Amino acid sequence: KVKAAVFASGTGSNFQAIMEAGPMPCEIAVLVCDQPEAPVIEKAEAFGVPVFSFRAKNYASKEHYEREIVSRLEELGVEWIFLAGYMRICGPTLLQAYTDRMINIHPSLLPAFPGKDAIGQAFQANVEATGVTVHYVDEGIDTGPIIAQQEVPVMPDDSEGTLKKRIQAVEHQLYPAAIKELILIK
Ligand code: GAR
Repeated sequence: KVKAAVFASGTGSNFQAIMEAGPMPCEIAVLVCDQPEAPVIEKAEAFGVPVFSFRAKNYASKEHYEREIVSRLEELGVEWIFLAGYMRICGPTLLQAYTDRMINIHPSLLPAFPGKDAIGQAFQANVEATGVTVHYVDEGIDTGPIIAQQEVPVMPDDSEGTLKKRIQAVEHQLYPAAIKELILIK
């Protein structure tokens, strides 16, 4: 089976959705996490997925911690990276090692609302609909080629919290489905 790594920084609901999505064409060989106290780490342990966690501040630079990540992934034979709420910008070390093999899920209909707090941005903008995008990662911020998108309506009585729930429910379907399709056709 093809091996993949999931990168996450926080809750890990998308990590969980990938793990619970039923038969996958890839094995999640490791969780990479830049926040050693994040809840996603316990989720990985519960699924028996090995974890590599690190603190960026313990490294001289992004290049240094990304070199360590790449060498650990290569040791494990990881071919794909799925970013799932990984709140760091990927540098050239990772991008060059995993060109066209690194994808991300973003909680908006890109190119609308890139970057941080996409749900809050959409809520503030009073749009009638926002959505979810799965895309390849390139050197820009949420600019890589789009793989899959799904629209999510904003209801008149939404709070940011209810909107976030609706968006994340879509993420939990769309991301595993996009991964399955992508790895089967590549
Ligand atoms: C998800 O909504 C994901 O789309 C978003 O972070 C959340 C992580 O939740 N990612 C970004 O905003 C990336 N720019 P999770 O830890 O529960 O999967």
